[in-house]
Amino acid sequence: MDIEEERLRESIKNSVMGLFRLKKQKDVFVKGSSRVQYAGAVFDDKESWAFINSFLDGWFGTGKKAELFENMLAEFIGMKHGMVTNSGSSANLLAISALKSKQFESKLNDGDEIIVCANSFPTTVNPLIQNNFKPVFVDCELGTYNPSIESIKEAISSKTKAIFIVHTLGNPNDMVALKEIAEDKKILLIEDACDALGSSFKGKRCGSFGIMSTYSFYPAHHITMGEGGAVLSNSLNMDRILRSLRDWGRACYCKHNEKKSNGACGRRFDFKFKNLPYGYDHKYVYSHIGYNLKPLEFQCAFGIEQFKKLPQFIEQRKRNFDIMQSFFKKYEDLFVLPKSIPDAEPCWFAYPLTIKEGSPFKRLDIIKYLEKNLIQTRLLFSGNVLRQPAYEGINHRVSGNLKNSDIVTERTFFIGIYPTINKERISYMQEVLTKFLEKHAKR
Ligand SMILES: Cc1ncc(COP(=O)(O)O)c(C=O)c1O
Repeated sequence: MDIEEERLRESIKNSVMGLFRLKKQKDVFVKGSSRVQYAGAVFDDKESWAFINSFLDGWFGTGKKAELFENMLAEFIGMKHGMVTNSGSSANLLAISALKSKQFESKLNDGDEIIVCANSFPTTVNPLIQNNFKPVFVDCELGTYNPSIESIKEAISSKTKAIFIVHTLGNPNDMVALKEIAEDKKILLIEDACDALGSSFKGKRCGSFGIMSTYSFYPAHHITMGEGGAVLSNSLNMDRILRSLRDWGRACYCKHNEKKSNGACGRRFDFKFKNLPYGYDHKYVYSHIGYNLKPLEFQCAFGIEQFKKLPQFIEQRKRNFDIMQSFFKKYEDLFVLPKSIPDAEPCWFAYPLTIKEGSPFKRLDIIKYLEKNLIQTRLLFSGNVLRQPAYEGINHRVSGNLKNSDIVTERTFFIGIYPTINKERISYMQEVLTKFLEKHAKR
């Protein structure tokens, strides 16, 4: 970069910093006109400048920034390999598709059963259907919103080949028990940790127990890349399968900075594939029926800066969760409050509540009231996914009953605890909630 370019970039950087100083000054919470969102991207000039600066470098495809982000994430979670994607849904699609790769030593087949919670996010279940696996749905427990270990044990049949476990809203499952079951029954364990960055079980990070784990960096999540996701794995073979599937299905596994003209394998022009001419460039040989699910390099530059703020985001989310939990303690006659199992250390995605049976108000009453008062609410994703129109007639099995997933569909909602929710916003939320709840609490 020459001096003139450096000078111009510096001036853009200063403008970006100036803009964010202004934005910060204007960011005041005004009761009655500011909305308290359930979640949102929390960023400033650091991420913005990193994004713009990376764009100005002129390298759009995943490169050095992507690699750095992948390594930071894998190291933080405690997995060997990380691969960025353009969303958490793509990460799930790739992780589940990889199970069918001919290059995977424990390859699964059409019709194999995979256990998943019925109370789910759609794109946790969809890759199972898209890959011709048979989802076996288990119920969740109220409060944890995760399946019990017993329900998973009961769901296992001779056709069960994997468990796709979601740490619902960031609340950890008993991963030690699940790992034991997986080892004992010789089935695979994959974690959807999209909501669980920063959560741990028995001192080990969620996302480090299975053969693969997935993350989402959509703005509502613990950190964001605008849109984005990642799959973590522990074997080089799996990482290569995932990269192939992500990158059009190509066989070549050269990194962006591969220096040797003959490729990382040293045989770029030396392979002979059955129906291809000798020396067909390995970059254009396809070993999988793949996709293109890559993010842009600038998103990764943004993600790196977000990642540096993760410890502070985790702390803020935990603090907000605790405040909400002590506030709602006095309304336990009306709601099932969120809870975690022993040894779990959650970093919650949001604050979920289930209205108890016989409560004098309905979910619609409270969510309409909150939304009218500019407090955003959301439902626990799909609820019982089998009640969603798209899932009518899918090939599946239900183990036990889905009573609690139905309750979630009818009576659960959540509100925000993300870092932007500061003291003022919390006290506004509590004031609005108190007005509604005091009419109904039996004390
Ligand atoms: C549990 C879970 N899995 C997967 C996803 C999909 O992630 P994305 O929105 O990045 O596609 C989400 C999204 O919120 C989620 O909550």
